[in-house]
Amino acid sequence: MTLNNAVPLLFFCILAVSLSSSSVQGRPASFLDDFRITWSYSHIKQSDGGRAIQLILDRNSGCGFASKSKYLFGRVSMKIKLVAGDSAGTVAAFYMNSDTNTVRDELDFEFLGNRTGQPYTVQTNIYAHGKGDREQRVNLWFDPAADFHTYSIMWNHHHIVFYVDEVPIRVYKNNEAKNIPYPKLQPMVVYSTLWEADDWATRGGLEKIDWSKAPFLAYYKDFDIEGCAVPGPASCASNPRNWWEGTAYQALTAMEARRYRWVRLNHMIYDYCTDKSRYPVPPPECIAGI
Ligand SMILES: *[C@@H]1O[C@H](CO)[C@@H](O)[C@H](O)[C@H]1NC(C)=O
Repeated sequence: MTLNNAVPLLFFCILAVSLSSSSVQGRPASFLDDFRITWSYSHIKQSDGGRAIQLILDRNSGCGFASKSKYLFGRVSMKIKLVAGDSAGTVAAFYMNSDTNTVRDELDFEFLGNRTGQPYTVQTNIYAHGKGDREQRVNLWFDPAADFHTYSIMWNHHHIVFYVDEVPIRVYKNNEAKNIPYPKLQPMVVYSTLWEADDWATRGGLEKIDWSKAPFLAYYKDFDIEGCAVPGPASCASNPRNWWEGTAYQALTAMEARRYRWVRLNHMIYDYCTDKSRYPVPPPECIAGI
């Protein structure tokens, strides 16, 4: 060892010790460190020494994976390259679910495929204490099948934010003070699936999947879960020193707020809050302010 790299190495050791002494998860070395396959082993292929995976949808099956632990608060992100070409009728999802049925909490990203050249739609939904029906949809401003992009869910005591790259596309505030339900007691599993949903996904089910284009392939890498694993130290979730609870993450920054406005003005194609046929009176969270 030369003196030159002794200093960075020392720094690395201090960093490693301070990370391992907290209960917070870091970036895993491989997919199987944090996740397990839940649906169709034959349709998930690992690459890059287990750091990246390929999901396959064909006539026989779709597939899915889930985190080994549940998490209570934190930030989950992964890089995804969606099904290329004619992806109409396919849906890839990345979501968190407390798996508690009628009182479940759930945070959903769903990527709805489209005919070649037509924009992918990202649908988000939020269930709190068993109640969902909070769909929003945005058309992406880039081709998500051309390259990897980062999709993240930030969940702390103050808000839930869905990000596409660094851009917030959805914010759900903790407005418990106004009696609006907020997920905060139930830890959630992180899931992802790729499946066929041509009865509803593309143009409301008008565009059917073209099986002659199968197999449909989606790619995932850079899995990163930072949160309080459950089971784990009971005090973790309420620790105000967790980085995701820090002041910088308690509300959108000015830059994020600008980007969020830009998405809502230019790329939002559906918002349950303004769907008068479903909700003649807007749901309370829509008027509580964001
Ligand atoms: C697919 O493309 C059509 C036509 O551009 C668009 O109206 C629709 O929002 C896109 N997404 C889905 C999921 O249908």
